[in-house]
Amino acid sequence: MTQHVLVTGAAGFIGSHLVDRLLDDGYQVTGIDNFARGSKENVSAALRREGFRLLQADLADLKDYRRVFADVSRPVGDIWHMAANSDIGAGVADPNVDHRDTFLTTFNTLIIARELGIKRIAFASTSAIYGNNPELLVEDIGPLFPISNYGAMKLASEAIISAAAESFLERAWIFRFPNVIGPRATHGIIYDLMHKLARDRSQLEVLGDGTQQKPYLHVSELIEAMMFATKRAVEPLNYFNIGPEDEGVTVRSIAEAVLRVAAPETPICYTGGSRGWVGDVPKFRYSIEKLGKLGWRPTLRSKQAVERAVAEIYDELRDKVQTSCSS
Ligand SMILES: NC(=O)c1ccc[n+]([C@@H]2O[C@H](COP(=O)([O-])OP(=O)(O)OC[C@H]3O[C@@H](n4cnc5c(N)ncnc54)[C@H](O)[C@@H]3O)[C@@H](O)[C@H]2O)c1
Repeated sequence: MTQHVLVTGAAGFIGSHLVDRLLDDGYQVTGIDNFARGSKENVSAALRREGFRLLQADLADLKDYRRVFADVSRPVGDIWHMAANSDIGAGVADPNVDHRDTFLTTFNTLIIARELGIKRIAFASTSAIYGNNPELLVEDIGPLFPISNYGAMKLASEAIISAAAESFLERAWIFRFPNVIGPRATHGIIYDLMHKLARDRSQLEVLGDGTQQKPYLHVSELIEAMMFATKRAVEPLNYFNIGPEDEGVTVRSIAEAVLRVAAPETPICYTGGSRGWVGDVPKFRYSIEKLGKLGWRPTLRSKQAVERAVAEIYDELRDKVQTSCSS
């Protein structure tokens, strides 16, 4: 029988790509989103396919979560928990944002899993749990001191998933994403820079001094890695960094790649300082050796992933960027 799975945050950037892949692999998929950031447009192709259903609920509200499940008749095998706040700055300005959308959505997902006897969960965690740490980030490094509420609430989410793995889950996978880029982006540096150009092409403001350097992973590779690992990692609690095999690229090189494609004449204006914003981790180095030992390797380096994502996002936003004014 076809397996039925739940994707939270299904209408978001990564969730919508995951939905497509699960449908391709023959799963029946129920997606849930509150459309705070995601959109029906992101899943428009999936909505035309058999086997996909999209429900609206605020997963930080347990009553709403339970209400929506009253409508789900088929038992759920796995939960892919992708819903969270994805705006780190919003969480710095108001800690309630990450408490609700990053932590409580996880907490409530575990309550629902327990109530309905769902035994397997895959979780979207982040490099932000490691804080501002210059060492090579291997999965077992510690102690961990995140520097944003977002990172803190993701780390707390990992902690309660670990506790659930001890009590009622059969298996959990925690995936620590780096910066993920690609089409249908709802946020992130390339998305932000393109939108700035859409508003004004006379100059491109870039946060920080441009020397921030991070690994970037294309969303297609992220999905590939998660599908690979969930089939092969069979501990009760599995946790992996996912990323490219390099030390990343600078913010300056990303801004230049955006301008090459979208507005070659526009000058860059850096706001200055080594960090882009409060909670920004300006540099990190990621070990993906653990995932490598399982047998997965990325095919794109950060630079290639950036070039591909710039072209894809420009394609989506071309009309807006081309019609923007230059004063
Ligand atoms: N994109 C990245 O670079 C990146 C990096 C590290 C981790 N992640 C994690 O990956 C996951 C997906 O991120 P994304 O980039 O696709 O972001 P996104 O904002 O596009 O997707 C998150 C989705 O969750 C939904 N959502 C948020 N709060 C909700 C709530 N209370 N109830 C129901 N739905 C809710 C949003 O509407 C959105 O559609 C998130 O957990 C994020 O923290 C992303």
